[in-house]
Amino acid sequence: MSRSAHPAGPRHADVLPEGHYSAPPADLNALDPKVWAQTVERGEDGVVTVGGISVTQLAEEYGTPAYVLDEADFRARARAWRTAFGADADVFYAGKAFLSRAVVRWLHEEGLNLDVCSGGELATALSAGMPADRIAFHGNNKSPQEIERAVRADVGRIVLDSFQEIARVAHIAQSLGKRQRVQIRITVGVEAHTHEFIATAHEDQKFGIPLAGGQAAEAVRRALQLDGLELIGIHSHIGSQIFDMSGFEVAAHRVVGLLKDIRDEHGVELPEIDLGGGLGIAYTSDDDPREPHEIAKSLTEIVTRECESAKLRTPRISVEPGRAIVGPTAFTLYEVGTVKPLEGLRTYVSVDGGMSDNIRTALYDAEYTVALVSRTSDAEPMLARVVGKHCESGDIVVKDAFLPGDLAPGDLIAVPATGAYCRSMASNYNHALRPPVVAVSEGEARAIVRRETEEDLLRLDVG
Ligand code: LLP
Repeated sequence: MSRSAHPAGPRHADVLPEGHYSAPPADLNALDPKVWAQTVERGEDGVVTVGGISVTQLAEEYGTPAYVLDEADFRARARAWRTAFGADADVFYAGKAFLSRAVVRWLHEEGLNLDVCSGGELATALSAGMPADRIAFHGNNKSPQEIERAVRADVGRIVLDSFQEIARVAHIAQSLGKRQRVQIRITVGVEAHTHEFIATAHEDQKFGIPLAGGQAAEAVRRALQLDGLELIGIHSHIGSQIFDMSGFEVAAHRVVGLLKDIRDEHGVELPEIDLGGGLGIAYTSDDDPREPHEIAKSLTEIVTRECESAKLRTPRISVEPGRAIVGPTAFTLYEVGTVKPLEGLRTYVSVDGGMSDNIRTALYDAEYTVALVSRTSDAEPMLARVVGKHCESGDIVVKDAFLPGDLAPGDLIAVPATGAYCRSMASNYNHALRPPVVAVSEGEARAIVRRETEEDLLRLDVG
C-alpha cells in the first residue's frame, strides 16, 4: 500500500501483516516450546538457558551474533525420524539445511544416512566418517569432477536429474570400471503449497525429469540400458516447508504409477522410492507441524496402499528431511545495538547481524519470532522490526514482532528456529564475518563451526 493512499501517514493496521500479530502475546517473557529448542528455558533470574548454559555466558564466550544449537534436541529429532520409519526404510538427512563434521558424526551415531548436493558437502561427509554407502548425491548440475569423486568413493546412490546426467554418470562409472547405483528424480506435477522458490514438483522449473509426456519413462528406458548404471529407484521431492500431506499423497501415487509402468514395460520391479524432504516446522506459534511418526505412518500407508492396488511389491521407502531435523534445534543470539522508535509506525531494533546470517526473511518473506533473552521485562509491548547492520533496507530479520518497550542497547535477543538454511545460506555481504555455530549439551558448549575472522576473509583476497 502506498503512503499517498493515507496522507496522514499509515495507521497501525496498514503496517501489520494480515493475520499476524494483530495483538501482542499475553506474556512477552514466555517462550513457546513449539518454536524453541527442547532444552531452552528461562531461569529464575530471567536469563534464558539452553542445555543448562545461560545466553549471557554464551555471548561472553563466543560473542554475538551466534547460532546456538541444542545437541540433545538435534539427536532426539534425528532419532525420532529414524525410529518412526523403522528398519524397512531409510532416513537421509538433507545436509544443505546445515552441515558440519559434528553433525555428520551425530547422524552416523543416530543411524541416519546423509543427502549431499555438492563436492563440498560430500567432502564434509566423508571427512567426518560417514560411510559412503550411506550417502546420496543430489544436484541438478553435478560437475564431472563431482560425479567422478562420488563414484570413486562408492556413494550409495546418485540421484540423476537430467538426460545429460544419465549419460554422464554412466560414462564416468563405466570408465572407472564401476556400476553406480542411481535413482531418477522426476517431477510429478504437484503444486506444493509453499513459497514459489522452494516448490519443486511442478513442471516449470529446473529440477528433475517430468513425468508428463513420457519423459520420465524415457529416462528409465535409457538408464536401464546403460552398463555403468544400476537403476534402483525413483525419486520425488515436492518442495519445502510443507504442512499438508496431500501433496505427498499425490506424489506417491504418481511415483508408484511409474513403477507399475516400468514393471509392465521392462519386467523390472524397482526396489526403492524416495519421497524427498520438505516437512514444515514451526517458525511462529501459528504453525502446526506434523510429528515424524505421523508422517512415517501416513507415507508408509500411502505407498503400501498404492502398491497393493498396482500389484507391486512395496519398495523400500526413503525420505530426506533437513529443516524438520535441524531447524527447530537452534536460535540466533544477537546483541541489540540501536533502538529507533518511528512515531505511528513501529520501532526498528538493529542487531549485530542481519541478512548475512539469515537471508530467509528477505528471500522468502519468511516469518520469525524474537524474544528478549538476557532478562525479563514487565514493560508494555512495542511493535518492533528486527533489522540487521547491512547497507540495505531489505535487511530484515524479523518483520513484525512484539518486544518489551524498555528494550535497550546491550540487551540480548534471540530468534528461534534458525537451525536450517541460515548458517548454510550465510554470506559475507559487507564483509560480515559469518557467525559460529555453538553446540550446547548437558552444561557444556563448544563451537562446532568457529566464527570467521578478518584473516579468513583476507586469505581469499590474493590480489
Ligand atoms: N531433498 C531434496 C532433493 C531437496 O532438494 C531438499 C531441499 C531436501 C531434501 C530437504 O528439504 P527440507 O526437508 O529441508 O525442506 N533454502 C530454502 C529451502 C531450500 C530447500 C532445497 N531443497 C529455505 O530456506 O527455505
